[in-house]
Amino acid sequence: MSKEKVVLAYSGGLDTSVCVKWLQDEKNLDVVCVCGNVGQEETGLDAKKQKALDLGVLDCQVLDLRDEFSDEFLTKAIAANSMYENKYPLLSALSRPLLAKKLVEVAHEFGAIYVAHGCTGKGNDQVRFEAAVKALDPELKVIAPVREWDLKCRPDEVAYAHAHNVPVPEGANDNPYSIDDNLWGRAIECGHLEDPWNEPLDDAWVMTKNPEDTPDTPTYTEIEFEAGKPVAVDGKKMKLSEIVIALNKISGDNGFGRLDLVEDRLVGLKSRECYEVPGALTLITAHKALEDICVEGDLLKTKIKLEQDWATAVYNGQWYSPLKNALDAFMADTQKFVTGTVRLKFFKGNCHVVGRKSPFSLYDYGLATYDRDTTFDEKASAGFIEIDTLSLKTWAKVQGPSSAAAQA
Ligand code: ARG
Repeated sequence: MSKEKVVLAYSGGLDTSVCVKWLQDEKNLDVVCVCGNVGQEETGLDAKKQKALDLGVLDCQVLDLRDEFSDEFLTKAIAANSMYENKYPLLSALSRPLLAKKLVEVAHEFGAIYVAHGCTGKGNDQVRFEAAVKALDPELKVIAPVREWDLKCRPDEVAYAHAHNVPVPEGANDNPYSIDDNLWGRAIECGHLEDPWNEPLDDAWVMTKNPEDTPDTPTYTEIEFEAGKPVAVDGKKMKLSEIVIALNKISGDNGFGRLDLVEDRLVGLKSRECYEVPGALTLITAHKALEDICVEGDLLKTKIKLEQDWATAVYNGQWYSPLKNALDAFMADTQKFVTGTVRLKFFKGNCHVVGRKSPFSLYDYGLATYDRDTTFDEKASAGFIEIDTLSLKTWAKVQGPSSAAAQA
C-alpha cells in the first residue's frame, strides 16, 4: 500500500529540512516540498531543491510567486495603506496566505491529505498558514512538526540533522537572528533584540544603510499611481514587483525604512521586532499623500478607520475571510480616482512628500488660497457656525460648566 502524502512549505533552511526527515520517519509520509519565491534575498533555490530530492521527497516544486505576490497581495496592501497597530506594514502576514494557497493547490494535484509548515507554536505565522488552508480546503489536515517534536533549540535540531543525514547549512548556528523576508521587506527577531532596551546592532540591517552613511545631498523620486496602483517610478513604467525592488534600493540607500517596535501578537504576547521596509514605507507614504488630494474628506476619514480593521484581519490570518473580502471591496471603491504623481525627497534616513498632483484632485486653489480674492464666501461661515454649534450651545446652557446644574 502506498503511503499517504504531505505537502510541506519548504524554505531549504535547517528547520524545514529537518521537517522533511521527521515527516518521513515519524509520520511515515511521502513528502512533496513547495518552495515559494516571494522575493526573499536567499539565492540557491536549485541547490535547495536538490537537497530536498536527496532527502528522498517525491517532488520539490520551486515556484516564482513574485508577480502574483505583487499583483494580488501588495496591490491590496497599498490600497489599504496596511499598517498593523499603525506601525508594521505586514510583510510576513502577506506572504503566508499565498504560500498556503500553493500548498493547497499542490496537495490537490498530488492527492495529499496533509499539508505541513515549519512554524513554531508561539508565533502568528502558524495561525496564518492554517487559517488560510482551512479557508481554502477545510478537509485538509495540517501537521506542524516544530510544535510537536522535542527539539528545543537550534543545537538540538543540528544534532537531529547530523544523526539523520540531513545536510546542515553552513553557519546554521552563526546567525543570531530569525529572519523572514520577501519583496515587501525583512523581519528581524531574536538574539540581542529580545531585550527591548537593546539598540539593534549594525549586523541586523541588510536592506537599509545606516543614515549616518548616506549621501549628503537629497534624492528626489517621483511615483505615479493609476487607480491606487503604483505604475511608474521617475517616469519609467514598470510592473509592481520591479517598482518595489527599485524603491527598496532608492530608499534603502538613503537609510529610510528601518523600524524598531514592540507589537502585539495574535497569540497574546508582546514581541520586539525590527523591520526593514524601505519600499513598503515609501509606497504607503506616497499613496497616502495622493489619497489626501483625491479622496473626498468623509470617505477618507472612514477609510482611515477601516484600514486598521483590514490590517488586523490580515495580521490575524484572515486573508481568505468574508470580513477581509468586504473590506477589500470598500478599499477598491475608494481607489477609483487615486491617479496622479507624488514627489518624494529622501535625505539621511527621512522620506518627505514634497509634491502631489492629480487630474482628479479635489484640492481647489480658488477655495484654499489665503488671498482675499477667493471663491470661498467667508460671510457664509457665520451662519454655518451658528447652526453647527446649536447642539453645543444647548448643552452649555443646561448642563455645561456655567449652567445652573453645574453650579448646584
Ligand atoms: N512579527 C511579524 C509577524 O508576525 C514577523 C514574523 C516574522 N517571522 C519569522 N519567522 N521571523 O508578521
